[in-house]
Amino acid sequence: MIYLNGKFMPIEQACIPVLDRGFIFGDGVYEVIPVYSRQPFRLPEHLTRLQHSLDGIRLKNPFGNDEWQQLLAQVIAQNNGEDQYLYLHITRGVAKRDHAFPANVPATVFIMSNPLLPPPAELLVSGAAAVTANDNRWMRCDVKAISLLPNVLLRQLAVDAHALETILIRDGFLTEGAASNIFIVKNNVLLAPPKSNLMLPGITYDVVLELAAANHITHEIRQVTETEVRTADEILLTSSTKEVMPVTLLDQQPVGNGKPGKVFMHLHTLYQEYKATHMRGFAPGASS
Ligand code: PDD
Repeated sequence: MIYLNGKFMPIEQACIPVLDRGFIFGDGVYEVIPVYSRQPFRLPEHLTRLQHSLDGIRLKNPFGNDEWQQLLAQVIAQNNGEDQYLYLHITRGVAKRDHAFPANVPATVFIMSNPLLPPPAELLVSGAAAVTANDNRWMRCDVKAISLLPNVLLRQLAVDAHALETILIRDGFLTEGAASNIFIVKNNVLLAPPKSNLMLPGITYDVVLELAAANHITHEIRQVTETEVRTADEILLTSSTKEVMPVTLLDQQPVGNGKPGKVFMHLHTLYQEYKATHMRGFAPGASS
């Protein structure tokens, strides 16, 4: 069951007019929110980022946070599975084709939920392959825009090379992945590129840095050079759907010793514990 413009319906019945500006211009923004034990994970943070994206494209938020929360709870309740991921999508509505913003047109709001599967166990044991590419996206990668053509093309480079992700380099520095954030480890220090207009401020990225800080994992938030990526002891990939994953092969070369490293294993354990705390916090009868 999905939500579209005020109604709940089976996804097969959902229709969008062809003049929707999402379809015509890719004029909209989106969010992907993991749901564990039927409770959205880090919802306030996702809604804050949604507001940032809407502000970035000058589109009014159609709902307040309480309304979003209620709407998302209804979508979760109407779908199967304890663990889901919500996809929510807002466009500038339906109007005669003209690049300029239309006046007084209601936004299109679409929410769906899909089962959230944990990353395949073998990828956590052996690590994933990645390729690198030049980051040729626009200069507002901090906006989670639905116009994802550059990301689609970049991610396909990985698929073509039988790899999981494309790691992006702009002007000699690491930005992020085509659909993830990227960390490296060098000499036991976790290095994270600083948030800027050149990357999406990942919610999982924040969780990883919070876990690192709380658990005395030495870390630095600073620009990471392409050379540092290529000579890293470990590379980690994060996203709401992939959680924390090790990258052990980069452009067909082993990363470090070619196996998931110590910092990955520590952070992965901490992430699973953190998720469990989140789930317990919402379990029926839980005290916190
Ligand atoms: N993508 N960078 C990009 C370009 C992304 O598309 C994503 C997530 C991230 C990680 O952000 P977060 O930790 O908040 O999920 C970073 C989602 C999952 C997607 O488009 O499906």
